[in-house]
Amino acid sequence: MIFTVAIDGPAAAGKGTVSRAVAAHFGFAYLDTGLLYRAVGAKNGDPVQAARSLNGEDLARGDLRTLEAGQAASRVAALPDVRAALVDFQRDFARRAGGAVLDGRDIGTVICPNAEVKLFVTASAEVRARRRWLELGGDAAQVLAEVHERDARDMNREDAPLRPADDAVTLDTSDLGVDEVVSKAIAIVAARIAKRDA
Ligand code: CDP
Repeated sequence: MIFTVAIDGPAAAGKGTVSRAVAAHFGFAYLDTGLLYRAVGAKNGDPVQAARSLNGEDLARGDLRTLEAGQAASRVAALPDVRAALVDFQRDFARRAGGAVLDGRDIGTVICPNAEVKLFVTASAEVRARRRWLELGGDAAQVLAEVHERDARDMNREDAPLRPADDAVTLDTSDLGVDEVVSKAIAIVAARIAKRDA
């Protein structure tokens, strides 16, 4: 079956957790597209060349989850040629046999505008900063400032800015536990599969 679940949202909203759970539940493949931008941002030299020559080894680096790598990612992600170099890989992944979940910023709007399911997973900046701080530690005020900075850069860039697709279902996770968010997401996907098979 070819079936794409597009999950977008701001930094540390819980996209990865929801995406992994949905992929595991339905046996779909999962692509964390943020990792592509993190890997490009972490490479030395011209980011466009880095995006064009990205390989498995680049994605396996152990230092891609840091706050610095997140900031570097959002800077290179504003470059249209970097984004263009990563489009085909993401679209091919989305339409692979067996179903796919992709999470990022522009999956429902630009990469897969025809995705069968689009979710926009979000939470207040304070809640997201707290989650990131619990994950990475450091100075809490600085983590919040970086969340605001990255949100602003991701939402205000010209090319593929972060925004929900018109037909996306928004899941605000500020006051929901992981299990509740995951159950909602799974129910939405299951309903869409049932409709398609009807
Ligand atoms: O994990 P977190 O939500 O903090 O970030 P990420 O998903 O790993 O993405 C890192 C950065 O890559 C984002 O701040 C975006 O600038 C960029 N990105 C993007 O532009 N488009 C995507 N589809 C995914 C990530």
